[in-house]
Amino acid sequence: MNDPNGAIQFDGTYHIYYQYVPEDPLGGGATHWGHMTSKDMVHFEQAPIFMSPTENFDRDGVYSGSAIEKDGKIHFFYTGNVKQPGDHDYIFSGREQNVVHVVSKDGFEIERREVVIPQADFPEGFTNHIRDPKLLEKDGHYYMVLGARTINNLGSILVYDSPDLNEWSYCGTLLDGGEEEGYMWECPDFFKLDNQDVLILSPQGILPTIYTFNNPHAAGYLIGETDWDTVKFQPETSYQEFDRGFDFYAPHTFEDDQGRRIMWSWMGIGDIMPEYTNPTIAHGWQHAMALPRELTVENGKLYQRPLAEYQTIRQNERKHEIQDATDLAGEVYELMVEMEAPKDFHLFLRQDTELVYEDGILTLKHGKSGFGRRRRMTPIDEITQLQIFVDTSSIEIFVNDGEFVLTTRVYPEDGMDTIKFKTEAKGTITYWDLALNHEEESE
Ligand code: FRU
Repeated sequence: MNDPNGAIQFDGTYHIYYQYVPEDPLGGGATHWGHMTSKDMVHFEQAPIFMSPTENFDRDGVYSGSAIEKDGKIHFFYTGNVKQPGDHDYIFSGREQNVVHVVSKDGFEIERREVVIPQADFPEGFTNHIRDPKLLEKDGHYYMVLGARTINNLGSILVYDSPDLNEWSYCGTLLDGGEEEGYMWECPDFFKLDNQDVLILSPQGILPTIYTFNNPHAAGYLIGETDWDTVKFQPETSYQEFDRGFDFYAPHTFEDDQGRRIMWSWMGIGDIMPEYTNPTIAHGWQHAMALPRELTVENGKLYQRPLAEYQTIRQNERKHEIQDATDLAGEVYELMVEMEAPKDFHLFLRQDTELVYEDGILTLKHGKSGFGRRRRMTPIDEITQLQIFVDTSSIEIFVNDGEFVLTTRVYPEDGMDTIKFKTEAKGTITYWDLALNHEEESE
């Protein structure tokens, strides 16, 4: 699997679709939309594949897209990917990326599936790479953003608008990338949150620095304001990455019935030259979804917090003063560290994963169990809180109540479960086993 798609809460049920290649864990083959549902964002049920590449306009992949509700139905928009036979680079020639509109009364059955913007109608100045429609409703009017690569190999976001979701007109570009901002912008997402406009994008090709852009592709956001007369977005912040770990890409948000802006993301990344691997391939699968996070804008910055729902799976709470926490161990758990006096620390997790905070730099290090993932460093002025979710083969670290997040896959050997926290700081560590209650699920 790769990107999350079409996230929505409809008639009380949460739906999440995702890029899915059933035949091959390495992603060789045309992409389908897998589908899972949930009533509570904790227990998920596998639904049948929602869409397969069965049409002429999507025969080489039902690529990424989104969902929006209108008049009691779900309207999906996705990219139908087509590769023409012949001698092509599939960037400047040979590829069609069509915007397809799908109507469903329930998120399972398809009533209508048709091209609303064919590749041939896209404006001049772009390569064949224009994809990943995401919808926004504003005052009863609809806007669609699409990620693009220009003929000069720069990222760009196109906007279309529509009164009814059927007829679409081109408004222009919402934002254009510069030389140092990547050659292609994938998976845009655009919404209002806490009175600010937020634009999410996943750019390919931003060069790494010591502390930033260390993954093959980036995923981050800009906060700013939109001029709706010209439909131009004016960023007020620099581009910020969402995650400082190894495995995070293509974030995709929706607003639920409680008005929360929830972000799904792929706990994986498209590695062209993989510096790290996933041993799950030998078991016929690869990748996962990161825990959904609630987004808020506070003091010009995006905060990401695990949904409050995940507190319901906490079991066997053990709370210690930091200095007394000497016998902690676990394989699937949540850890909350609250430190009164911010100081350096050293945290050992699972087989050979370390989180070290020294001289204002937080370093995440893996040994053998990282399968090629080595180290990521993030400058952070002060750390007072850590909330860490450890699953069988993943770790998600929330720092300072969602100010920074680090997501990573790890593959430790069985029984490698010691937790050690070394610091001079005063405070508490709380440990919970995490377990889904399957009896409750089957009721
Ligand atoms: C991002 C992406 C999207 C595309 C999809 C294809 O990971 O490349 O741009 O729609 O994956 O699976």
